[in-house]
Amino acid sequence: MLISKNIAIVGVTGQVGQVLLKILAAKNFPASQLRFVASERSAGKQIHYQNQALTVEDIASFDFSKVDLAFFAAGSEVAKHYAPIAANAGCIVIDKSSYFRMDPAVPLVVPEVNGYLLKNSPSKIFAVPNCSTIPLVMALKPLHDLAIVERVEVATYQAVSGAGIKGVQALEDEIKSFKNSDITEYDNKVPKLGFPIAFNIIPKIDDFLPSGYTKEEMKMTDETKKILSPEILVNATAVRVSVWQGHSEAVHLRTVKPLELAAATQALKDFPGIQFCEAEIPMPFTHAANNPIVWLGRLRRHPQDSAHYLSFWLTCDNLYKGAAYNALQIAEKLFDSLAKNA
Ligand SMILES: NC(=O)c1ccc[n+]([C@@H]2O[C@H](COP(=O)([O-])OP(=O)(O)OC[C@H]3O[C@@H](n4cnc5c(N)ncnc54)[C@H](OP(=O)(O)O)[C@@H]3O)[C@@H](O)[C@H]2O)c1
Repeated sequence: MLISKNIAIVGVTGQVGQVLLKILAAKNFPASQLRFVASERSAGKQIHYQNQALTVEDIASFDFSKVDLAFFAAGSEVAKHYAPIAANAGCIVIDKSSYFRMDPAVPLVVPEVNGYLLKNSPSKIFAVPNCSTIPLVMALKPLHDLAIVERVEVATYQAVSGAGIKGVQALEDEIKSFKNSDITEYDNKVPKLGFPIAFNIIPKIDDFLPSGYTKEEMKMTDETKKILSPEILVNATAVRVSVWQGHSEAVHLRTVKPLELAAATQALKDFPGIQFCEAEIPMPFTHAANNPIVWLGRLRRHPQDSAHYLSFWLTCDNLYKGAAYNALQIAEKLFDSLAKNA
């Protein structure tokens, strides 16, 4: 049903905006129904889509009443200011920033997990969860349905593209300039991500909170609870790694009811959007990059608690299912359900 709508992409010049364009082009979405929006920095630039050059418009003067739906991929400040303006103009907003995620009036949606929220929702604004939360709740959902997940310990391995274009540039620049392992050579450089990322890992994403957790870690915790159940204890460590695209996670969980490994395997295999790897070891560069699949492998149970404790590894492209693809799924489901109700 999306094919009959007029759509704006806010943040079209950014990474998520560009991936969204690629997916829309693959679906043959017509150029005549697309509007490109960004800040005044990019206003007037031309972006090619399906052999046509479309001009980027400045959000400050953009008339949202002219489109049915706007994807927002331009950060929290832009969402905070412009999403209500767009919604008041009658436009549906699907926002990829964190700004509305914990707002009780705004559905926070991963369609495979809680897509039912899109039916008859009075909200004009819909939020896409954090790029690490999305694959986590996809993997937890079938196990939660079987045996009630009570506790999750997760360590992330997050790609530089998750930090926006700035993160990608940091890795590019540092790979060119870092020639050996003597860090004193680089002392006079100010790293774009706060610390060197090339050939390094940074166990801090976003600011620290008084609790000692970072904002990124608490996003995973709070969003997982909002999507799956407020009862789940989530303990996250978020880490930036020297990977271009694809976030990975080492996940350990405990269930209330005993859970057979075979039943867990089958439930994960059956869950839409998950590719269960039997012997293969899924990795971000070799498996996850540039596709919308959650790759899950290394499912195992701990010998000391074999009835309730499970561990696995997953990897998923932060720009695809972690952002643009999930947003597009929300839009498609939303318009399908509106059409059915019409
Ligand atoms: N990267 C990821 O893996 C990921 C995953 C999930 C969610 N997200 C979220 O998606 C959003 C975009 O992320 P990204 O990685 O695509 O960022 P990005 O590559 O840095 O791109 C940012 C985009 O926002 C636009 N923008 C910035 N300030 C603006 C303003 N004042 N008014 C209008 N447009 C403005 C930029 O346009 P100009 O060309 O005009 O500067 C650009 O198109 C963020 O909210 C991010 O948290 C990102």
